[in-house]
Amino acid sequence: MGRSSKDKRDIYYRLAKEEGWRARSAFKLLQLDQEFNLFTGVNRAVDLCAAPGSWSQVLSRKLRGLEEKGEKVEEVKIVAVDLQAMAPLPGVTQIQGDITKVSTAQEIIRHFEGQPADLVVCDGAPDVTGLHDVDEYIQAQLLLAALNITSHVLKPGGTFVAKIFRGKDVTLLYSQLKLFFGGVTCAKPRSSRNSSIEAFVVCQNYSPPEGYVPNMSNPLLDHAYDVDFNQLQGPNRVIVPFLACGDLSAFDSDRTYPLQLDSGKQYEYTPPHAAPDLPPLPAGLPPPKKQPAVQRRCQTSRPEPGRDGSNSRVQLIRLTAADLWGKLHSF
Ligand SMILES: C[S@@+](CC[C@H](N)C(=O)[O-])C[C@H]1O[C@@H](n2cnc3c(N)ncnc32)[C@H](O)[C@@H]1O
Repeated sequence: MGRSSKDKRDIYYRLAKEEGWRARSAFKLLQLDQEFNLFTGVNRAVDLCAAPGSWSQVLSRKLRGLEEKGEKVEEVKIVAVDLQAMAPLPGVTQIQGDITKVSTAQEIIRHFEGQPADLVVCDGAPDVTGLHDVDEYIQAQLLLAALNITSHVLKPGGTFVAKIFRGKDVTLLYSQLKLFFGGVTCAKPRSSRNSSIEAFVVCQNYSPPEGYVPNMSNPLLDHAYDVDFNQLQGPNRVIVPFLACGDLSAFDSDRTYPLQLDSGKQYEYTPPHAAPDLPPLPAGLPPPKKQPAVQRRCQTSRPEPGRDGSNSRVQLIRLTAADLWGKLHSF
């Protein structure tokens, strides 16, 4: 397979390299901004689950770009957090840690004491196991950990944007978000593949219930609830609006495009932009073993059984009982 074949299959991957973004995810935040005007009046922002850093790049360019033009008087502050190290970015403070851990949350909160954030974004995605219920559960936990941190650092009226998997318990998540925000919309940017269950909740006008005291040790989501929230009717059921962002003029992330996009401009291969976060292996060492399915990162598409053995239920059968046991005990 030629090195340009991914450029052909994934237009946003290609554009990200050409425009200098570290990941194609940058377009998701940019397209959400086009729809919701996320950055107006924003000086202080938190980027949760930030590596390799394309959302932090967007925040840095948008917030600091305005500052450089002299349009902002207050100091811009951007704090980015991830389990993994990421290459430095101008004006972005980095914290390496797990957002579900109280110690990481406290470190983030310290940066905003006395001066709350205007915007919190979270593009967190778990290492997918392929077991949909498990993946959706971990994703929900990431979102709720992000919401917990948000409840400590976001100013009243502020905005929270987070990746969400539209799985079977999503109604419960919407209900919980609606407790904290005046408006909750589920949005799907054009750069997010239709084949993926991923979408983004855009939660506006932070207004926690009266008397609510943020508390990291109180998980908001209690999976011991015995009601099927999706069966609730009438006012008990929260249905949030769903918005497909943009119009048909944007590139379709599920389509394959020719390399020659513009007849006046010759296609040129661009190498990936993000700097490696690990040094190359010392000479003489054997190449690393291929990672098993359970360790693949950030994959949000639903597997298509039978079409592709590398991403299907068939592959799950190859997991050993020990893998599965370890995975279930890590929650
Ligand atoms: C889809 S990637 C984020 C891409 C990023 N928004 C960008 O634009 O470059 C998901 C990230 O979530 C991070 N992540 C997953 N679980 C996490 C956790 N518990 N705490 C912190 N980061 C986490 C992963 O390390 C991964 O870098």
